[in-house]
Amino acid sequence: MQSQQQANEATAYLSGFGNQFSSEALPGALPVGQNSPQKVPYGLYAELLSGTAFTVPRAEARRTWLYRIRPSACHGQYQRLDRQLNAELGPITPNRLRWNPLTIPEVIIDFLDGLRCMAANAEPSQTTGVTLYTYAANRSMQRVFFNADGEFLIVPQQGALRLVTELGVLEVAPLEIAVIPRGMRFRVELLDTVARGYVCENHGCALRLPDLGPIGSNGLANPRDFLAPVARYDLDEPVQQVQKFLGELWATELDHSPLDVVAWHGNNVPYKYDLRRFNTIGTVSFDHPDPSIFTVLTAPSAVPGMANIDFVIFPPRWMVAENTFRPPWFHRNLMNEFMGLITGAYDAKADGFSPGGASLHNCMSAHGPDNATTVKAVEAELVPHKIDQTMAFMFEAGSVLRPTAYALECPELQRDYDACWAAMGKTFNPEIR
Ligand SMILES: [Fe+2]
Repeated sequence: MQSQQQANEATAYLSGFGNQFSSEALPGALPVGQNSPQKVPYGLYAELLSGTAFTVPRAEARRTWLYRIRPSACHGQYQRLDRQLNAELGPITPNRLRWNPLTIPEVIIDFLDGLRCMAANAEPSQTTGVTLYTYAANRSMQRVFFNADGEFLIVPQQGALRLVTELGVLEVAPLEIAVIPRGMRFRVELLDTVARGYVCENHGCALRLPDLGPIGSNGLANPRDFLAPVARYDLDEPVQQVQKFLGELWATELDHSPLDVVAWHGNNVPYKYDLRRFNTIGTVSFDHPDPSIFTVLTAPSAVPGMANIDFVIFPPRWMVAENTFRPPWFHRNLMNEFMGLITGAYDAKADGFSPGGASLHNCMSAHGPDNATTVKAVEAELVPHKIDQTMAFMFEAGSVLRPTAYALECPELQRDYDACWAAMGKTFNPEIR
């Protein structure tokens, strides 16, 4: 598709998290001092995109004013697509689950058709909960998509993406993430031959930076490292617009591109973040803190302090703890953990958890380092050691994640996952302290 601006448009970003941004692709396109003048500059239409109810507390409110060539209302009936996302849940299972990397399809497939629903803990109509996907694609979208059911947190694992949104362009490569607000139109273009990664669809309150508590006013993901796009707009092109609504895909044919916003202002914006910018904090004495210290973004639930969804990373970091079992400890948690690996190796698993793979450990499921990692860690000389060339992450959910039928039947499922703990020897000896 053609665009009004040239290739360097994608290099321009606005810096900061949750700011009230302003951007215009033509000088003077943004009305001054009011949102909806009688005549908008350049003959544009003013339109409000609300991400929250009008009356939420100001700190929660997200909305953006769009100044566009045609109102979004200019469309005909939506028709249900034959090809749907297969999000049917599988049978209940308390078992620990792990998957090999999703196979790259041999047929031509775009990001939308390449979504594979892995787990969910809510109906899309609910105002909390998440649905989790992997994706694999080998062509750019020739259509435009928006999700009425929630915001999208996209975690590329292989292949860079160019996300062309109503508010502008975000380019994201592996080790970066992007968030697209609920309802925002976008298309996913591939900057490499194939693309693979993960998506967290958040049905609840929007993701935000976690509070820092005793950490103070700096650290973890710093607000200025979050980047929003600048305004740009498509020329007139007919395009199919697909929406996800209550879990179903519906499409309508437009005689123009809906990515026609010439100017905008507000805080309901898509954004990207480079995970390598994360200021990682850990112990400099003994034991290691809870992995909540690695939270990049969080979305709250109704229970104070308990997230609907946390996005947590396990980045490169120095291990210096004295007299400490340094891998993640064995644990059984209330929260529900869907993990993925972007690159390298995860320090709790010697093998079997590969880049592009995934695992699921639900509420009270017992897990921890595998046998090989444990044996090595107990015997290790505790010199300073850098865990490097790695990036694992976790979607940590407050409600139990039900795997889909697809996730339980797909060939990537490792049916012998439990075996990584099976060889754990009894080292207990009442005669030796
Ligand atoms: Fe865990």
